[in-house]
Amino acid sequence: MSSTTHTLSSAEAMALEDRYGAHNYHPIPVVLARGEGVYVWDLEDKRYFDFLSAYSAVNQGHCHPRITAAIVDQAQKLTLTSRAFYNSLLGEYEKFITDYFGYQRVLPMNTGVEAVETAIKLARKWGHEVKKIPESQARIVFAESNFHGRTLGVISGSTDPDSRKGFGPYMPGYDVIPYNRLDALEAAVKNPDVAAFIVEPIQGEAGVVVPDPGYLKQAYEICKAHNVLFIGDEVQTGLCRTGRLLACDHEDVRPDILILGKALSGGALPVSAVLADDEIMLTIRPGEHGSTYGGNPLACRVAIEALNILRDEKLAENAAKMGERFRSEMTALQQEAGFITAVRGKGLLNAMVIKPFDDGRTAWDVCLALKDQGLLCKPTHGDIIRFAPPLVINDEQMTECVAIIRKTILSFA
Ligand SMILES: Cc1ncc(COP(=O)(O)O)c(C=O)c1O
Repeated sequence: MSSTTHTLSSAEAMALEDRYGAHNYHPIPVVLARGEGVYVWDLEDKRYFDFLSAYSAVNQGHCHPRITAAIVDQAQKLTLTSRAFYNSLLGEYEKFITDYFGYQRVLPMNTGVEAVETAIKLARKWGHEVKKIPESQARIVFAESNFHGRTLGVISGSTDPDSRKGFGPYMPGYDVIPYNRLDALEAAVKNPDVAAFIVEPIQGEAGVVVPDPGYLKQAYEICKAHNVLFIGDEVQTGLCRTGRLLACDHEDVRPDILILGKALSGGALPVSAVLADDEIMLTIRPGEHGSTYGGNPLACRVAIEALNILRDEKLAENAAKMGERFRSEMTALQQEAGFITAVRGKGLLNAMVIKPFDDGRTAWDVCLALKDQGLLCKPTHGDIIRFAPPLVINDEQMTECVAIIRKTILSFA
């Protein structure tokens, strides 16, 4: 692909965002102008490996030619009808995605957090109508340090002060228990008003926190024993990121409500989905929930292509293989560097935890140094660096990336 001539410099583009945009993000100072596969380029045409993948939305790689072709073709036919009418692709997509994941029905939405909201609404409706919880008494159990998005309904279940402070009053009817603690779950779901437990199979934003083996399976069984729905938020962990189609597949858990987003469009546009069986999904009736853009034909077309690519290119297998290699290289580096306290993850969702440096430098400074060496990632919580490249990364590229990370990390030792 040829480079484009840009009229703005990176400094100018950053100054514009800073001056005219809300200050709700603190980006790494790099201005990206194009992408292809595992690579992105800045305005000055410097190339980087993308080790964030738009928080795992770009699992299929940047600007995947099949996704681009699907967009271009569909954009010339029909993009949006709203759900006031049927459209030619929604039914086909609904059949496709329900077959793909093995559920009876899907409710299409756009962003991840909308799908989470949808799942919570569905669980409450099911709780009242099927479980016969008294009206407006249904409770949802969340895990501490979760990240499910930014709406009021969702931050009300958060324990992150940055997400919550100043935004109250919060949604009632939530209980928050420690993550990875089955005893706490057992105690919480004894309350007959609990409709659902919502959980990330690996806590991504918390810093790739992997629960103990067996946690998901047993959590699911505890929910079953108490007639509580198990909601799997696989917005970040799903779609091959952890080396299986779903992270719950590692423990053969089939969530009662499955939430997908991000890579469902391969990063092309916001597409999310909630999957469940009839008993749950059919509690919502016409007029009770929806979204103007949900299920639009462009999204349907792109999502079918994005899911087909995962399968055709065996991205779960590649994520598993590359992830093993990445963790073993990083574990070796841990021995050498002396300031890495943990390397953890599954598939290509990994993190490195570092000790604070005596001179006040943090994971942020490591990420800036990695950027200078041509690899982009973002710190979280000051001491954690998440490494999540597109799942199309190959052996040779991984070798190059490991060399960049080694060199950069050892320069801090
Ligand atoms: C597990 C999880 N759920 C939900 C969301 C929210 O998705 P979105 O930012 O598309 O609303 C995220 C985003 O990072 C996530 O990681």
